[in-house]
Formats: sequence, C-alpha cells, structure tokens
Amino acid sequence: MPDYDPEADPSHLELRFRPKEPKIHPSASLKSCKLADYVEIGPRVTLRDVEIGAFTYFEPGGEATYASIGPFCSIAPNARINALAHPLDRVTTHKIAYRPNEYFRWRPVDQGFRDTRRAARVTIGADVWIGQNAVIMPGVTIGTGSVIGANAVVTRDVTAYAIIAGVPARVLRSRFDPSIAERLLALAWWDWPIDTLFEACPDMAALPVEAFLDKWEAQDPFASTKTK
Ligand SMILES: CC(C)(COP(=O)(O)OP(=O)(O)OC[C@H]1O[C@@H](n2cnc3c(N)ncnc32)[C@H](O)[C@@H]1OP(=O)(O)O)[C@@H](O)C(=O)NCCC(=O)NCCS
Repeated sequence: MPDYDPEADPSHLELRFRPKEPKIHPSASLKSCKLADYVEIGPRVTLRDVEIGAFTYFEPGGEATYASIGPFCSIAPNARINALAHPLDRVTTHKIAYRPNEYFRWRPVDQGFRDTRRAARVTIGADVWIGQNAVIMPGVTIGTGSVIGANAVVTRDVTAYAIIAGVPARVLRSRFDPSIAERLLALAWWDWPIDTLFEACPDMAALPVEAFLDKWEAQDPFASTKTK
C-alpha cells in the first residue's frame, strides 16, 4: 500500500483553516449581537446591540453598545465603545430619570432617551487598533486602519489610517502617506476570501507595505472563489 501523501489528499487543503466559529468567553455578556467568523470575545466583555466583522477580537473587560465594528479590529483591554451619555439637562443625570422601571412599577423606561442613544451609533472601519482603556463617545465614526492610543477619549470622527491619542484625542500622525492609504483602501485586503488570506499573510509580515501593495494589486484576490 502506498504511503499516505497529505498534499495529494483533497481534504488536506481544508486543514489549513482552524474552526471559524466565534469564540466567546463564558464570563462575557452579549445581547442582540451579530458576530462574523473568527471573532473572539474575551473574559468579562459586555456587548449590547453590536455587529462585529470577521477576525475582530475584544480583549478582557471591553464594552460596546450600539456599534458596528469592521473586520480585523484589535480591541485592547477595558476599551469602551459608545460610552453612555447621561442626560445633562434634566434635574438629575441619575438613571432614575430615564430608567425608573429599575426601582418602581408603573414607571416605564424612557423610550425617547433610549431611541436617541440608539441613533448615536458608533461606526468603526476595518483594521482599527483601539488601545487599552480608550473611550469612544456616542455617534463617532472611526476610519479604517486607524489607531486609537491608550487612554484616549475620542470625541470626533477619525480619518482612515490616522494615529490619534490624548484627552480629547488629537491626531499624532498618519500611519502612511495619503497615496499608500488610498491604495490600501482600494485593495481592501480585509474583504479577501480565506484562501487568499492564507497565501497573503506571510507577505503581511515580510514585505514593506509598498511592496505588499505592488505584489497583491497585480493579482486577483478572488481567483480561488471563481475556480470552484
Ligand atoms: C498611540 C500609539 C500607537 C502611538 O505610538 P507612536 O506613533 O509610536 O507614538 P510615539 O511613541 O512616537 O509618541 C508620539 C507622541 O505622542 C505621545 N503619545 C503616545 N501615546 C500616547 C497616548 N496613548 N496618550 C497620550 N499621548 C501619547 C507621546 O508622548 C509623544 O509625544 P511628544 O511628541 O510630545 O513626545 C501608542 O503610544 C499607544 O498608545 N499604543 C496603545 C498601546 C496599548 O494600549 N496596548 C494594549 C495592548 S493591545
């Protein structure tokens, strides 16, 4: 009997991929969330009404409410996405004014307050790195490829590939020249099929960004899906 040759076995190719089901730590708390493949939710993370793109991961203690988060985001411990704004113009900022139902019967939750909060959704692009303890305020849009420094308080929209930090967060610099950022946005590697990512990830580590763009702009990243 000939020796088993794993390269010749059609099922071998599928062995490249680890299980794609989202991993959710048992101590995490999720309500009304949609998670794509390979998402990881770490210990004590709390998520409410959040959509999360493929490969994005939350490290321990993060929180997000009413947010759409793209693929390949790295979210450091205790980051807070869409921090609740208590009402400033009422007699009190305390929740007795908008969640009286927690204390009393026949006093329902303030639906108008909830609707306003729901409308101030936070939107985060692809490949965003959010540093430890960063706080993202309601309604903010964070561009693809950007970096949010540790302890930043983000009060305004962030452009693609910006590095921002501080309280309130300000732009430190851009990760790349605008022409490179534009080419990356056009390449949109984060939308590639898994087979292409398998081939490309060694280049992500080995090639400078311009060489990576030159090589991969010359290929059809969706070729593998067309041959099937
Ligand atoms: C934002 C960050 C990526 C910037 O990195 P960088 O571009 O290499 O920045 P530098 O270290 O060159 O610092 C540039 C300036 O920004 C300041 N700065 C850097 N990070 C800052 C932060 N988080 N908050 C406030 N200021 C910060 C520096 O003091 C420096 O100021 P100066 O020019 O007055 O000296 C990095 O500092 C950071 O905060 N990383 C997050 C780390 C983290 O949370 N890791 C968790 C594990 S996932």
